[in-house]
Amino acid sequence: MFTKSIIAVIAMVSLAVADHTFIFRNNCSNNVTPRIANTNCGYSPRCNTPGSGGVPNPAISYTGPQPNTLGRGQSQTMTINRQWNGRIFNQNGNCGGSGENCSLGEFNLDTGNNFTPQAYDLSNIQGFTQSMRIEVSGCATVTCTNVNCGCSNAYPPGDLSGCGNDSPVRGCGAGDKTWTITFCP
Ligand SMILES: *[C@@H]1O[C@H](CO)[C@@H](O)[C@H](O)[C@H]1NC(C)=O
Ligand SMILES: *[C@@H]1O[C@H](CO)[C@@H](O)[C@H](O)[C@H]1NC(C)=O
Repeated sequence: MFTKSIIAVIAMVSLAVADHTFIFRNNCSNNVTPRIANTNCGYSPRCNTPGSGGVPNPAISYTGPQPNTLGRGQSQTMTINRQWNGRIFNQNGNCGGSGENCSLGEFNLDTGNNFTPQAYDLSNIQGFTQSMRIEVSGCATVTCTNVNCGCSNAYPPGDLSGCGNDSPVRGCGAGDKTWTITFCP
């Protein structure tokens, strides 16, 4: 009994340290309230079943706590599980629960696909409300600081063509990463 609970604790700790690190940085003069929303089986075709969304690994929802509201210059480091498929946005009071009508960072992690093991982008399709940057260890940084930042940086407001070729999307290799999300980069 005792041994079993020790093993369970060790298993939980190793799961907790083996996921992605997300650093939320508020470089704005105003407060930001970062939110982590799952999109599987909704805004994304990737679901909790293998093969859904055209990739081998099922999505696993994030169920942990939400980030704190961050004052100017503050940051917070959090852990998000592997195979997460979702969005990060600043809840400015007018965004929907999944970031509707707001600027989004979009993530499709640990897909199991050999060509795009992990993908990420910035999207203002539903409106530009926040300048943001995504940085990830060893992969490309994307930044959008204004509504006209263009298709090489983010999906523009109202663009249902996906920029024609999904040019805002960046890919990253497999494995646990450290992602830094800067508000007002
Ligand atoms: C998004 O904005 C539109 C237009 O203002 C509004 O009708 C809609 O309810 C908003 N959606 C959410 C989820 O807040
Ligand atoms: C933070 O914002 C200031 C402008 O307010 C800018 O000069 C600086 O480069 C930003 N720093 C980072 C790390 O994004």
